[in-house]
Amino acid sequence: MEKWRIISSRLLRHSSPRMMIGTSQNHGFGGSIQRSGSKDKFGKAERYFEHGKQNVETCSHPLRDSVGNLQIFLARNLYKTCRIHCRSFASGAARVQRNPSFSTINSNDIAFFKEVLGEKNVIQDEDRLLTANADWMGKYKGSSKLLLQPRSTEEVSQILKYCNSRHLAVVPQGGNTGLVGGSVPVFDEVIVNVGSMNNIMSFDKVSGILVCEAGCILENLDSFLGNQGFLMPLDLGAKGSCQIGGNISTNAGGLHFVRYGSLHGNVLGLEAVLANGTVLDMLGTLRKDNTGYDLKQLFIGSEGSLGIVTKISILTPPKLSSVNLAFLACKDYFCCQKLLMEARRKLGEVLSAFEFLDNQSMDLALTHLEGVRNPLPTSMYDFYVLIETMGTDESYNKEKLEAFLLRSMEGGLILDGVVAQDINQASSFWRIREGVPEALARAGAVYKYDLSLPVEDMYGLVEEMRLRLDQSAKVVGYGHLGDGNLHLNVSVPDYDDAILAQIEPFVYEWTSKRRGSISAEHGIGLMKANKIHYSKSPETVQLMASIKKLLDPNGILNPYKVLPHYVVSQA
Ligand code: FAD
Ligand code: MLT
Ligand code: ZN
Repeated sequence: MEKWRIISSRLLRHSSPRMMIGTSQNHGFGGSIQRSGSKDKFGKAERYFEHGKQNVETCSHPLRDSVGNLQIFLARNLYKTCRIHCRSFASGAARVQRNPSFSTINSNDIAFFKEVLGEKNVIQDEDRLLTANADWMGKYKGSSKLLLQPRSTEEVSQILKYCNSRHLAVVPQGGNTGLVGGSVPVFDEVIVNVGSMNNIMSFDKVSGILVCEAGCILENLDSFLGNQGFLMPLDLGAKGSCQIGGNISTNAGGLHFVRYGSLHGNVLGLEAVLANGTVLDMLGTLRKDNTGYDLKQLFIGSEGSLGIVTKISILTPPKLSSVNLAFLACKDYFCCQKLLMEARRKLGEVLSAFEFLDNQSMDLALTHLEGVRNPLPTSMYDFYVLIETMGTDESYNKEKLEAFLLRSMEGGLILDGVVAQDINQASSFWRIREGVPEALARAGAVYKYDLSLPVEDMYGLVEEMRLRLDQSAKVVGYGHLGDGNLHLNVSVPDYDDAILAQIEPFVYEWTSKRRGSISAEHGIGLMKANKIHYSKSPETVQLMASIKKLLDPNGILNPYKVLPHYVVSQA
């Protein structure tokens, strides 16, 4: 057994120089996730557009459009149309038919939008649209001819009011880092991106409450707060590109969920624009407010299907001075589990992240990510765990972590490990874990599953999937162990119906049997709209459809996503 190496345990991850997860060199994913917010000439954070262009052009994933027979019975019943226009994505992962009640864009529409938004915020440029039409994985691709960039809630309201009256379908888009095909058009929906609405409106240092526009990039908010001695309660690998409006709309989880919990708890208020243009002002800044139904919760995690989020108010925790990160190796999954139990008990209030990746994920990161080195190079282990702690008292926290690690090693829960000695080392450890999605995207096509499961069962699914797929695919498991959230990914050279048939519905049935969730944090999007019944009862889905019908009677907001297609048609 490798001797324990505590290099030194002080680090400050949040003031670290941000890593760039660079543009794809060799593969066709829209992989330009920025961890560092670069500035454009207007001083605003520049997002994915420029970088993504190259990636989409070099896209080698098959994005097949098909016109013809519908494969899904339910969809066949949905829209009776004379001109069948249907589309399949990533080898049949989702087959949908265009809703014939939607209009198509004409020159009067363009003239109206130009009048409201100004010429330059009505984007028809093909290159820009190519990027906005394709998702980060290169798995989903729409054919929208129009991207609108409103600068105010009033403009969003005018856009939606108009689209509703004209029956023009709309897809709200943020940083376009979503992983379930929710952020891109399926057909020709108008893309509305509130990225230009990126002002911080207020920050109250006493309460830690931040109010900002929905287009603010998560990392920019975190940097702003860092200077005030606070941090965002949410941290994820896509933070340099994703927008807080997108985070709220997906109810994103991320790396600090184990410490700070869900956005359902941290978001105190929001402003949203409904499909008919009505502005709902729910932008409260109160910790406690029991005045009837808490309607803002409807917009947290509804993936742009009920309204466009334009402003948000969020509770932010103080940034603590002592942050430590350990990169550890474990013999087997059982040890990872036990380590989690022990960490909860022994590290208690200082525990801020508990992440894991398996040997195959580690191998992918080492193979496909430039400049990544194994922190434990003497041998490859079956499982790796990252434990982060945050606290106020440096020596207390350091001692606490070190004592915990030594005890865990003596008890055989840890085989080897290192504690980051500085910011750069911590960043390099995080780069491995956070870089796994990018490594997978570089490796080829990927089937992604984001599951909530009882921790003790979780890795069993990865093992069973490996047996099912044998040599035909690489099956990897990583994720937010501390939250019971497994990312099961099946990596293949190209999307392939035969492999998909081996994975689904098996993966959903397996999850459902254990009363797990088929979406822990990524959402339902297009990918799982027809699978929601694996995690929700028919009555619940029906009520969701009724709420959708009430708020968006014409169904213009993010159609084909979230709700099963048959339920939407019946509602
Ligand atoms: P988009 O991808 O643009 O949109 C996502 C959904 O929200 C779509 O349905 C869209 O219609 C809707 N939407 C966007 N903006 C608005 C708005 N203003 N109003 C209404 N609806 C809107 N997710 C996690 O939960 N945890 C992780 O750890 C995590 N890590 C990731 C790492 C990488 C490398 C990548 C590529 C993705 C990761 N994700 C993770 C997924 C993704 O980053 C999150 O879902 C994120 O919250 C999406 O934000 P976005 O601004 O990119 O939204
Ligand atoms: C992560 O935790 O890395 C993200 O949710 C992205 C992914 O699942 O690939
Ligand atoms: Zn995740």
